[in-house]
Amino acid sequence: MRNDSIKLHIRQYYAALYENKQPRHLPVKTGRLLAECLNYPLTLLHFLSDNYWQHFLPCGNPMGLLSPKSGDRLLNLGCGAAIDSFVMAALHKDGIEIVNLDVVFTALHKACCQARRAPFEHMLRWLCADGEKLPFQNESFDWLLMNGSFNLFPQKSTVLQEIRRVLKPLGVFCCADLCAASMLPDYFEQEKDAWAWCMSGACTEERLGQLLTSHALECMRLNRRKASGDLLYPVVFSCRKV
Ligand SMILES: C[S@@+](CC[C@H](N)C(=O)[O-])C[C@H]1O[C@@H](n2cnc3c(N)ncnc32)[C@H](O)[C@@H]1O
Repeated sequence: MRNDSIKLHIRQYYAALYENKQPRHLPVKTGRLLAECLNYPLTLLHFLSDNYWQHFLPCGNPMGLLSPKSGDRLLNLGCGAAIDSFVMAALHKDGIEIVNLDVVFTALHKACCQARRAPFEHMLRWLCADGEKLPFQNESFDWLLMNGSFNLFPQKSTVLQEIRRVLKPLGVFCCADLCAASMLPDYFEQEKDAWAWCMSGACTEERLGQLLTSHALECMRLNRRKASGDLLYPVVFSCRKV
């Protein structure tokens, strides 16, 4: 399948999901239940309306890998419900700026409406764009986060080039997504919904390491939750632009 048709399907899939038009047959836990399992600090998120939680679709909890200091700028690429951004803003009060970017406008609109109920709305920016063509100058961000969106890019080199370009020197890329225990069978490539579920775009840890190294991103930490026999398993990792 071509890059363009996969990306179009993914965009339409998430647009329908955030507009509640997509039957929710996701093969994973989502929402508040998942946030609890992943140890998200729910008390910081008390302002969210109950029915908003269904839009939270993370692959993991990368919060422990992010430690912005006052004045830092963070890009949440493929922010969706932006719950990671809300946690970061609540933890870091006035000190940081968080830019939320997603290719689906409805996600941003809904997240922005929720943010109006929070005391840190002024720390958040909202932008609708494609992660492969980031509308920022070189070296704009200290931190770049992708939670469940890295595997939605069939051409990882293209998005990694953009990530590297917009990160400042020594800036940190943090990511939560799925890895594959071995090369995925060919039929994953043809399964459009498996692309949207972050499965078909998963690579092995070895391949991931090669991709990061070839874009001069130095892996600092990688945590996996893998049971024996799992073909796909969640990882969270951070790497530094060198
Ligand atoms: C699995 S969801 C994760 C959303 C969010 N990070 C979270 O934890 O709930 C993936 C998100 O990536 C967005 N996305 C997909 N393709 C994208 C692209 N090319 N550029 C920017 N965002 C994209 C989707 O619209 C969706 O909001």
